[in-house]
Amino acid sequence: MNNVLRVGIIGAGGIARVAHIPNYLKHVDKVKIVAVADVVRENAEQLASTFDIDNVFTSYDEMLNTVELDAVSVCTPNKFHAEATIAALKAGCHVICEKPPAMTVEEAEKMAATAQQAGKILTYGLHYRHTPEVEALKRFIDADELGGIYAARVHAIRRRGIPGWGVFTNKELQGGGPLIDIGVHMLDTALYLMGYPEPDTVFGVAYQKLGNKKGVGLSGEWDWENFSVEDMVRGMITFKNGASIILETAFAANIEQREEMSVSLMGDKGGADVFPLKIYQEKHHTLIDITPAYLPKVDAHGIQMESFVNCCLTGNQPISNAKQGVALQKIINSLYESAEKGKAIKLSRTV
Ligand SMILES: NC(=O)c1ccc[n+]([C@@H]2O[C@H](COP(=O)([O-])OP(=O)(O)OC[C@H]3O[C@@H](n4cnc5c(N)ncnc54)[C@H](O)[C@@H]3O)[C@@H](O)[C@H]2O)c1
Repeated sequence: MNNVLRVGIIGAGGIARVAHIPNYLKHVDKVKIVAVADVVRENAEQLASTFDIDNVFTSYDEMLNTVELDAVSVCTPNKFHAEATIAALKAGCHVICEKPPAMTVEEAEKMAATAQQAGKILTYGLHYRHTPEVEALKRFIDADELGGIYAARVHAIRRRGIPGWGVFTNKELQGGGPLIDIGVHMLDTALYLMGYPEPDTVFGVAYQKLGNKKGVGLSGEWDWENFSVEDMVRGMITFKNGASIILETAFAANIEQREEMSVSLMGDKGGADVFPLKIYQEKHHTLIDITPAYLPKVDAHGIQMESFVNCCLTGNQPISNAKQGVALQKIINSLYESAEKGKAIKLSRTV
């Protein structure tokens, strides 16, 4: 590989524009964005003109066959994550694919297997792992300050935050609503801090109560007439090591706060709320709370993209990997399956 990573972008929408490209461009000594592919030519052309990218394609296959690339950002709607990622890996590229990994477990497994066969990095856009809160708490957890973490609460819940743009309310293109879109971030954060334990049983309930009716939109006016995803999921996941997570995620719910993105962990030596970070312990017969006096202000997307670039250039492995992507997808799809079937889903196989 050259000293400069040649990057292609698949999907010229919001996340490519705000999180991937500007952060690649912070490292012009290490990265050159060579091409962008989008099925809507105008989107690709606009992005190329804004960021001075030389090559524009309407098909990622054509892009992969025409220009020499070392790495690709997959920034399409969820439906195309697997096919674009697999094509890029087969073309010899490292891949950072936006979250969620895919639409189905089979897709996530195929993505992981292709990465392994190709000997290329496959990582996912799970940037909350790079927040200062998570990075700091991880150091406490690694030093055994929480002991064995056996319980967690995961919230990604909005009062009226149904996206009024993009395809986030289209089941066909996204695979689901708040669980697969925002719940995935907090679920992954909890799993990462718990050491990605092996899931055992998943029980979920899904609702569509507010999204399919006209109402106040705090994130723009959404297309309520074609709202085909759930607006809330509640669930419980148990793990083979005895731990459990209780999860609540919603695009819209009648709650006080505008939005709550939070993870709480409970271990036998201590507990923690992650956003904002606070650690709870009992020491010298006293209950104590530890609050960081200072945490650096960082752009988690920026750290994620820098880490991806460095891993591609050095061969180091990113902290989010394809195997975890399969486990995450398995839990998400089992929550949906459980909600649909009205019964708990036992995950039989090792992930
Ligand atoms: N990490 C985060 O915080 C975060 C935030 C927003 C979105 N995302 C993820 O990023 C992805 C894209 O979201 P977005 O907000 O940028 O969506 P978007 O709708 O703004 O952009 C998607 C782009 O992909 C293009 N596209 C569709 N099918 C394609 C295909 N087969 N090949 C090439 N291009 C194709 C569309 O024309 C569009 O330009 C989603 O998976 C979403 O979950 C992640």
